[in-house]
Amino acid sequence: MDALDLLVNRRSASRLAEPAPAGEALDNILRAGMRAPDHGTLQPWRFIVIENEGRERFSALLEKAARDDQMEQKAIDKAQQAPFRAPMIITVVAHCEDHPKVPRWEQVVSAGCAVMAMQMAAAAQGFNGIWRSGAWTEHDAVRDAFHCREQDAIVGFLYLGTPQLKSSTTVLPPDTAPFVSYF
Ligand SMILES: Cc1cc2nc3c(=O)[nH]c(=O)nc-3n(C[C@H](O)[C@H](O)[C@H](O)COP(=O)(O)O)c2cc1C
Repeated sequence: MDALDLLVNRRSASRLAEPAPAGEALDNILRAGMRAPDHGTLQPWRFIVIENEGRERFSALLEKAARDDQMEQKAIDKAQQAPFRAPMIITVVAHCEDHPKVPRWEQVVSAGCAVMAMQMAAAAQGFNGIWRSGAWTEHDAVRDAFHCREQDAIVGFLYLGTPQLKSSTTVLPPDTAPFVSYF
C-alpha cells in the first residue's frame, strides 16, 4: 500500500472481526508504535495487548467497575460488552517521567503518535481499527489494571481486527485553507 494514499485516504473502522493481527503483522504494528517521534528517546509508552482470555478479563474488570460505581444496568451491560467489539485491543499508556527538557505533555503526545502509527501499520497490512478513549481511561480501577502511576495517562484503546464493512464513505479531498496559513 502506498504510504501517501494511506495517510490521505485513511478511515477508521469500528466493525471489526477475526482475524486479529498476529505474528509478524502484530510485530510490525508494535514496531511502528516504537518508531513514534520521541523527544529525548524516552520511549514514553507502554502497549498492553488484550486478546483471547484477556478480553474476558478486561470485560470482567469493566463490568465490576461499572457495578461498583452503581451504574444503571444498561451501562453495566455496555461496559461488559465493550471489549468484544474487536478481537484485539491495544491499551496505550503514556509512561511519563519528570525530565528537565521534555515536559509531560510532549511525552503524552508521543504516546498518541504511537497509537496513530500502530493504526496505520495495521491498515497497511489489511487490518484496521479505531482509537477509542472515554471515561474508562480515567477510572482508577482501569488505571490500576494497566499499572498506571500517578504521572501516567491512558491515551487510548486501539481496537484492531479485520474490517467487516468496506468503508462506505469516500474521503473527499479536504479544504485545507481554513486550517493553514503561512507565516
Ligand atoms: C484521543 C482520541 C480518542 C477517541 N475516542 C473515541 C471514542 O471513545 N469513541 C469513538 O467513537 N471515537 C473516538 N475517537 C475518534 C475515532 O478514533 C475516529 O477518528 C473517528 O471515529 C473518525 O473516524 P475517521 O478516523 O475514519 O475519520 C477518538 C480519537 C482520538 C484521537
